Amino acid sequence: MSETRSVLITGASRGLGLAAATYLYARGWQVIAAMRAPDKGMATLREATGAAADDPRLLGVELDLCDPESVAAAAATVIRLIGAPYAVVHNAGIAAAGAVEETPMALWQQMFATHLFGPVALTKDLLPGMRAAGRGRIVLISSAGGVRGMPSISAYSAAKAALERWGESLAGEIAPYGLGVQVIVAGVFDTEIITDEGTSTFRDFDGPYGRHHRSIDHRGRAAMTIARPPEKFAALLARALERNTPYSRRSAGFDAAALVAANKILPTTTMHQVVRVAMGLPKFRSMSPDATHTSRTVRAVTVIAKALPQPVLRRLGLWSTKIRPPKQPSPLTDPVASTSGDPTDSVAEDAVRRKESSIHD
Ligand SMILES: NC(=O)c1ccc[n+]([C@@H]2O[C@H](COP(=O)([O-])OP(=O)(O)OC[C@H]3O[C@@H](n4cnc5c(N)ncnc54)[C@H](OP(=O)(O)O)[C@@H]3O)[C@@H](O)[C@H]2O)c1
Repeated sequence: MSETRSVLITGASRGLGLAAATYLYARGWQVIAAMRAPDKGMATLREATGAAADDPRLLGVELDLCDPESVAAAAATVIRLIGAPYAVVHNAGIAAAGAVEETPMALWQQMFATHLFGPVALTKDLLPGMRAAGRGRIVLISSAGGVRGMPSISAYSAAKAALERWGESLAGEIAPYGLGVQVIVAGVFDTEIITDEGTSTFRDFDGPYGRHHRSIDHRGRAAMTIARPPEKFAALLARALERNTPYSRRSAGFDAAALVAANKILPTTTMHQVVRVAMGLPKFRSMSPDATHTSRTVRAVTVIAKALPQPVLRRLGLWSTKIRPPKQPSPLTDPVASTSGDPTDSVAEDAVRRKESSIHD
């Protein structure tokens, strides 16, 4: 980078934002770090960067994306301090877990304020200056949840998807003015947002979605083992800022890349099943009041019996009656018509009968 470019990063107090601010500062950028509590966050950032308190290349701005007045004041401060930034990275975010039925509307409002309404308002105020400069980038940090609606994080998913769609629209509008939009779909990185403390929970493990939550929780914890250090994300973000395209969408991490690719290639119904199986969620209608329950053994035998050719199945049926120990006639059952009582036998015999009748039909 030959000249000093400026970048405004939201959520720079910790996690990916802190790593990005540190990385970009080290590479010569002027960083405007937006955060809810600059008194605390800027001390952390100065420690990470080694910047002096009066370093004009590292400035702090107070910003609460859920408070429209704070957003307007932050935009005004940025304009007063540096004019129009070259780039804006909409990174700040929150996570919450819970089924749609369990999550309060206040959470949905907070999600959309943090991930969409706040970023839109901030961008609106900064765009006139950026347009006048005739160059620059707006970077949106999305997530796997923004690629597909993920069960148990629907508010987060919906907000991230909305952020992506907004970015696509915006790109079409501002490209003629030399401004580009870059979406980064982040995979799993080791920050607070993926911890129990960093994610608000509304899950009722004893409620109707308890089975979903137990399975997702178990598999989610296993997936955390692939979490990469935030510095890797920062390096990817730095490369994204160097691009000069009107619109692009990149993945950060192989997990995000795999999901984006699968979502492009596979039909919607298949993707629904892929997500369901990956999360270990119950099958369609399996929890409805009229669902019939069969054991795994019975289900396995049924599948095998359906797959085998009819003569083989018939031989197996005859063979099983030969090796079965002689039954004691019971005064309560008809010894000729009854089976051994083993469900696998009755399933196999039933399959033979059905196969025979289908042949006769
Ligand atoms: N880490 C991952 O695995 C991952 C994966 C996919 C996507 N992402 C996305 O990456 C972004 C950064 O997440 P992270 O992993 O760095 O999480 P994090 O460590 O929890 O940091 C979140 C940041 O957002 C800020 N923030 C939250 N609510 C805010 C508000 N109302 N106004 C202003 N700032 C607010 C926080 O500030 P305070 O310090 O004031 O709370 C904090 O700086 C998020 O958009 C997240 O959705 C992360």
